[in-house]
Amino acid sequence: MSDSASLKIGDKESGYPIRSGTIGPDVIDIRKLYAETGCFTYDPGFTSTASCDSALTYIDGDEGVLLHRGYPIGELAEDSSFMEVSYLLLNGELPSKDELDSFTYTISRHTMLHEQLMQFYRGFRRDAHPMAIMCGVVGALSAFYHDSTDIADPEHRKISSHRLIAKMPTIAAAAYKYSVGQPFVYPDNSLSYTGNFLKMTFGVPAEKYEVNPVVERALDRIFILHADHEQNASTSTVRLAGSSGANPFACIAAGIACLWGPAHGGANEAALNMLREIGTPDKIPHYIERAKDKNDPFRLMGFGHRVYKNYDPRATVMQKTVREVFDALKVSDPVFEVALQLEEMALNDPYFIEKKLFPNVDFYSGVILSAIGFPTTMFTALFALARTVGWVAQWNEMISDPGQKIGRPRQLYTGPTQRPYVEIGKR
Ligand code: CMC
Repeated sequence: MSDSASLKIGDKESGYPIRSGTIGPDVIDIRKLYAETGCFTYDPGFTSTASCDSALTYIDGDEGVLLHRGYPIGELAEDSSFMEVSYLLLNGELPSKDELDSFTYTISRHTMLHEQLMQFYRGFRRDAHPMAIMCGVVGALSAFYHDSTDIADPEHRKISSHRLIAKMPTIAAAAYKYSVGQPFVYPDNSLSYTGNFLKMTFGVPAEKYEVNPVVERALDRIFILHADHEQNASTSTVRLAGSSGANPFACIAAGIACLWGPAHGGANEAALNMLREIGTPDKIPHYIERAKDKNDPFRLMGFGHRVYKNYDPRATVMQKTVREVFDALKVSDPVFEVALQLEEMALNDPYFIEKKLFPNVDFYSGVILSAIGFPTTMFTALFALARTVGWVAQWNEMISDPGQKIGRPRQLYTGPTQRPYVEIGKR
């Protein structure tokens, strides 16, 4: 491809450099476009716009490829751990054994919440959605950890990143405990990151909690699958919030708010609710017809993706993990059969084939999380917990970039042109 692009508006032609990454589509650098032509570009939803340079995560949506720092998600999910993937995302390379031990130890030393912060929970209604609690409590961290909010100081950024990764399981588990009226369970640093989260969620002070290693491994894998996903809506929200210099706790709270929506992280909750509503395989054709009907707002939740126009590689791992968890817990759920048959029917339907709609990460995750014992309202909170590492890694990457600017999109104004103010009595 040529190394520049030209644009002709009327008689005036202007040239723009084309930049190449290591893989993936080239980008046309249009930063001087407005100065040279007086025009903006128009791309609602950022369908063709790269908003930053990033060396963290690469997706080839046509091929169904997802790489973190170059490593395929399938290999990481199979052979790595969430702590190792977190280190990789934050630092760029896989850790040595000593580096991983030291990182894991550091994270485990930040798992407790300020005791006064625990009092915050009591201000919420018992039926508050865990994501509502997460938005509030994570934002409130900025009021408790002033000693790590100087974003210009790399050491502060590192400590706040570690704090966020470490405290998220405690925050999410406490949100759950509060909703079921059980006492908060304090972190147990002798356990793994994921084992500790399971204990804080399902343990009670009256009994000894034994972590089931298969469940621990399955959940750790789910965390790996959700760790990062390049410039998705919540990550872009974190970057945009951070671009103004806001502290990291506030930025991650903004990311959590964005993740909550059903088109994004809220889809795992919506997908399981949908599968339960379908209930039995004989009802599937009716729901497929509804999803295809332009006059019906219903969509197949857990299906389709802005970037993947092929099978989401995370969904492949998820589907396999369902069976592992069912075998380990000796349970089954008719909803899994509904999911398998719905997938098969949709993938053979011309509407879904033509639009390249495949199962995404959220299609099977709810089935696993439900089998482990999480209520549907916790699903998106778990996504937020895991995605926190991606958010902080992306936020750090942005703040470390010397060319970083405040994010400030332009618009195509369609409102009234200038007009004189009319006093209220004359309107
Ligand atoms: N069911 C039925 N039709 C669909 C679906 C679906 N799940 N997804 C997309 N379509 C259709 C859509 O109606 C549109 O048709 P047309 O071109 O005739 O107007 C076409 O496919 C393209 O869809 P779009 O909404 O323009 O695509 P998008 O890239 O803006 O949206 C999406 C991507 C993920 C929001 C969308 O596929 C969706 O709403 N899926 C269901 C929600 C979901 O599972 N979200 C989780 C995404 S993965 C995890 C995450 O990122 O958080």
